[in-house]
Amino acid sequence: MTTRPYIFVTRKCSEQQLQPLYEIADVEMWPEEETPCPRDLLLEKAKKADALLTMLSDSIDKQLLDVAGQLKVVANLAVGYDNIDVHYANDSGIVVCNTPDVLTDTTADLTFGLILATARRLLEAADYVKENQWKSWGPLLLAGVDVHHKTIGIVGMGKIGQAVAKRATGFDMKILYHNRTRNEEAETKLGAIYSTFDELISNADFVVCLAPLTDETRELFNKDAFIKMKNSSIFVNASRGAVVNEVDLYEALINNEIAGAGLDVFLQEPIESSHPLVGLHNVVALPHIGSASLETRYTMMNLCADNIASVLKGNSPKTEVIV
Ligand code: DGY
Repeated sequence: MTTRPYIFVTRKCSEQQLQPLYEIADVEMWPEEETPCPRDLLLEKAKKADALLTMLSDSIDKQLLDVAGQLKVVANLAVGYDNIDVHYANDSGIVVCNTPDVLTDTTADLTFGLILATARRLLEAADYVKENQWKSWGPLLLAGVDVHHKTIGIVGMGKIGQAVAKRATGFDMKILYHNRTRNEEAETKLGAIYSTFDELISNADFVVCLAPLTDETRELFNKDAFIKMKNSSIFVNASRGAVVNEVDLYEALINNEIAGAGLDVFLQEPIESSHPLVGLHNVVALPHIGSASLETRYTMMNLCADNIASVLKGNSPKTEVIV
C-alpha cells in the first residue's frame, strides 16, 4: 500500500482554495493567521514533508533544506522568493514555485495608493477627523502635494513596475525607469524613459522601488541615494525592506533631504510601532499588504495548490522559480 504524500502549510489559509491538495495528500496547516509557525516546529514538519506551502516570512534555508529528506516542492505564497535558498533547493532536487502575474495589478494598486496616501497626507487627514481635531475648513489645512503631472521614477520595471507605470499615465505623469534590462513594452506602450539610477533618483518627484531583493539591490537606497534625491521627493517602497538602509532613510527624512516616504515593507517585519520611522508624520507605514485583496490572495493560494499538485503528480508546475 502506498502512503499518501504529506503537505505542511505554514500559515492558516483557505481550505477551500487548497481543496485539490486534500484530495491527493495528508495536509496539515499551522492554525494561526497572524503568528508564524515556530521555527522548531517548521523544522520538525519539514523532516517528513513532501511539499511545503510557505510564506515570505518563513526562512527556507540550508538548515531546513538539509533536514527535509523527502521534500519535492516548496510553493511560496508570494512573487518574491528571497526567503528561500533557491540554488540550494534546486541542487537538492527540490522545485521552488512562486506566484507571479496573479498579484501584479493588486500590488500596483497598493503601490499607487501609497503614492497618493503619502503625497496627499490621507492617513494624517483621516486621523484628524477621527480624533475630532477638525474645527473649520482652512485654505492650507492638511495641504499635500500633487501627484498628477509630476515625474515618477520606477526602480525595477518588471510586471508590477509596468502596471504602476500604466496607472501613472492616467495621472499624466512623466515616467522614468531603471532596470537591469530595457523594457521595450514600457517604453513603446507607456512612454517610459530609461534612465541611469542616478538620473532617476535626482529627477523623480516620486521614487518608487519595485525591484526584487538581490545582492545588487540590498541597501541600494542609502545615504548616497537619498542625498541625490530632490528635497521635495517622496520615496515609496513596495518590494522588500532590505533594499533600504532604514537608518539612512530616517536621517534623510528628519534632515529634510526628502519630503516623505510610503513604506509597505521593512527590514524587520513586523516593524514595532516604537520604531523611529513609524513615528514620523511624513511616513505612511503599512504592514506588507501589497497583494492583500481577498480575490488575489485566494488566487495565490489556488496557484500554490496547483503547483504542489503538479509536482507531486510528476508534472511541471505552472510557475517554477528559475534562477
Ligand atoms: C510578494 O508577493 O512578494 C509581495 O511582497 C506580496 O505583497
